[in-house]
Amino acid sequence: MRLHIMATGLSGGIGEALELRTKNHPEWRVTRLLRRPSGPADIAFDVTWSERRIAQALEPVGPVDVLVALAGADILSPPLRNRPYAERLEALYAVDIHGTVKTVRATLPHLVKDGVIILMGWDQAGLGKAGESGELYALAKGALTAYAKSLALTLMDRATVYTVAPGWVDTRWGKSLETPRKQRIAARTRAGRWQTPDEVAQVIEALMTFPRQLSTGQVIYVNRGDVLPS
Ligand SMILES: NC(=O)c1ccc[n+]([C@@H]2O[C@H](COP(=O)([O-])OP(=O)(O)OC[C@H]3O[C@@H](n4cnc5c(N)ncnc54)[C@H](OP(=O)(O)O)[C@@H]3O)[C@@H](O)[C@H]2O)c1
Repeated sequence: MRLHIMATGLSGGIGEALELRTKNHPEWRVTRLLRRPSGPADIAFDVTWSERRIAQALEPVGPVDVLVALAGADILSPPLRNRPYAERLEALYAVDIHGTVKTVRATLPHLVKDGVIILMGWDQAGLGKAGESGELYALAKGALTAYAKSLALTLMDRATVYTVAPGWVDTRWGKSLETPRKQRIAARTRAGRWQTPDEVAQVIEALMTFPRQLSTGQVIYVNRGDVLPS
């Protein structure tokens, strides 16, 4: 199956793992939308740009089979973790919500019929998690998950939309933690451990080849049932 995949966030932990997985498919081509492009297949791209500038950046991409919108603001690591609540909320709005919506809307003219759109949620967005970061991520990922449901209905006969909702994935923030704190977080998950970026990438890889229009609008939770409160 030949696929042209276009993705934001490929420089992040899940993104790097996903790109590695795409290399197992020589017939797949990946266009990387990056703030710091480093190769000929990369397109300079910042999801906080205006809708017009984003649309212009995507003009040369050609037909796209799959959009994976991975870009997300990291409000757990410095410098954002030390900023006021409202500023962290603004960052999540600008990147995860508005940035994703702009990316999707600019991709639609290029998306082939029966294309796939994969957005990123969070397994606890609908369950609740105490604390400021929990509130903030719930706001952002809950909004994005709800948006994806309506988008799926809008695009019903045209594209398949999924939200992938991982738990704690060992990416930038996870890797910065001391072992005891990491272990405490792991102990509060049902699986008792952090998810690896490759596990989440494997789910995304599978969705790219899952039968089209079979289960559009679904949230794919990457966890073992409802997670424990943490
Ligand atoms: N890790 C987890 O535990 C977890 C759990 C649930 C959901 N998620 C979601 O999964 C997605 C990927 O997570 P991750 O942990 O792999 O992320 P990460 O390692 O923190 O990387 C974030 C990615 O987003 C990109 N990005 C940030 N702001 C951007 C902007 N303005 N324009 C374009 N790209 C931008 C970053 O690019 P730069 O390299 O340029 O900074 C980087 O590629 C995110 O949406 C995240 O919210 C993660």
